[in-house]
Amino acid sequence: MGTKGSVLIVDDELGARESMRMILKGKFDVSTAESGMKAIELVKEKQYDVVVLDIRMPDISGIEVLEKIKQMDPSPEVMMVTAYAALDTAKNAMRLGAYDYIEKPFKNFDEFREIVSKGVERKLKASKTHQLVAQLEKLSTIGQMASEIMHELAAPITGVIGYSEFLLSQECDDIIKDSLKKINAEAERCQKIIKNILSFARKPDDGKNYVNINDIIIKTIDLKEHHLKLDNIKIVLDLNQNVPKTMANYNEIQQVLVNIINNAHYAMKSQKTEKVLSIKTWFDFENIYISLANTGPLIPQDKLEIIFEPYYTTKKTGNGTGLGLSISKRIINEHDGRIYAESKEGEGVKFIIELPIFNEI
Ligand SMILES: Nc1ncnc2c1ncn2[C@@H]1O[C@H](COP(=O)(O)OP(=O)(O)OP(=O)(O)O)[C@@H](O)[C@H]1O
Ligand SMILES: [Mg+2]
Repeated sequence: MGTKGSVLIVDDELGARESMRMILKGKFDVSTAESGMKAIELVKEKQYDVVVLDIRMPDISGIEVLEKIKQMDPSPEVMMVTAYAALDTAKNAMRLGAYDYIEKPFKNFDEFREIVSKGVERKLKASKTHQLVAQLEKLSTIGQMASEIMHELAAPITGVIGYSEFLLSQECDDIIKDSLKKINAEAERCQKIIKNILSFARKPDDGKNYVNINDIIIKTIDLKEHHLKLDNIKIVLDLNQNVPKTMANYNEIQQVLVNIINNAHYAMKSQKTEKVLSIKTWFDFENIYISLANTGPLIPQDKLEIIFEPYYTTKKTGNGTGLGLSISKRIINEHDGRIYAESKEGEGVKFIIELPIFNEI
């Protein structure tokens, strides 16, 4: 594409065609066509940014040409020219994809040039969007491939973990045992990375059911309680028993809770002062709210949003993938909800989840 926009003028009257050409030449690369059929042929052959289309033409009407052009991919921007205030036809043309129209004879040449320029800009933007979409498609293929590779790796890694555990249970030298422990720990690390990447690359799962959020919290705490208690973490639950049921994916909401609880666990682990994880639920007409708060080091205010981005982690290399919160955010978004973090002196770090209340379907 040149720096000048390319414009095709379509009009059956020589005089009109030529005067439009004179107004536009210099600023644009201008071509002309004397009939609708000719215009369609030209647009098939060459990519124009803007087509200036007369509505009334003897062979096929401007409207028909517009429809044909707009079916092509990529299609140029089209503006209509109407001889006498045929406003209805012009409006109809806008519905069919024209971006603007002008009445002829023109009173104001600048206005005409401006409308054409606007079309050239629109076309430029559209082709940039086109490129972006193509890039995104490519990225999603890469994501797909990554998830296939991860699936392939999952089985051999499980093998490494299994065999190293078996060897560790046998009599052997301490040096060998040490190395085996390292092999085992590293393989577990791989497994965790694979699991996280897989759930990050997974397709949205639409298995929603009519569930009680408090139940999911209690089941999740059952899972984690033992680990938390081992590190002297106190769990305080304040669940509103009247929280209504809603449509949600049980496993996904549980995954979000596990991610946040694991983060809280990790944050408080080596803390000397009291370690408390408090989980609260409440609701209003629209939403159910869950807050998960922990004592522990605060998150700086300027990091409160960044922590939800993929791969952001402050854990030492190898300890975290930085995907936990981004997966959680995606899940909550897929539930049309919201998740955010607060961090306040005296209150600790708090994650708040809002889930809209949906009727059973
Ligand atoms: N409760 C918390 N207290 C303090 N910082 C937190 C808390 N939860 C999350 N963070 C911060 O947010 C970062 C990102 O969390 P996220 O769960 O996305 O990844 P991660 O925990 O680092 O890695 P992974 O979840 O893979 O183990 C953490 O590294 C930490 O810096
Ligand atoms: Mg995490």
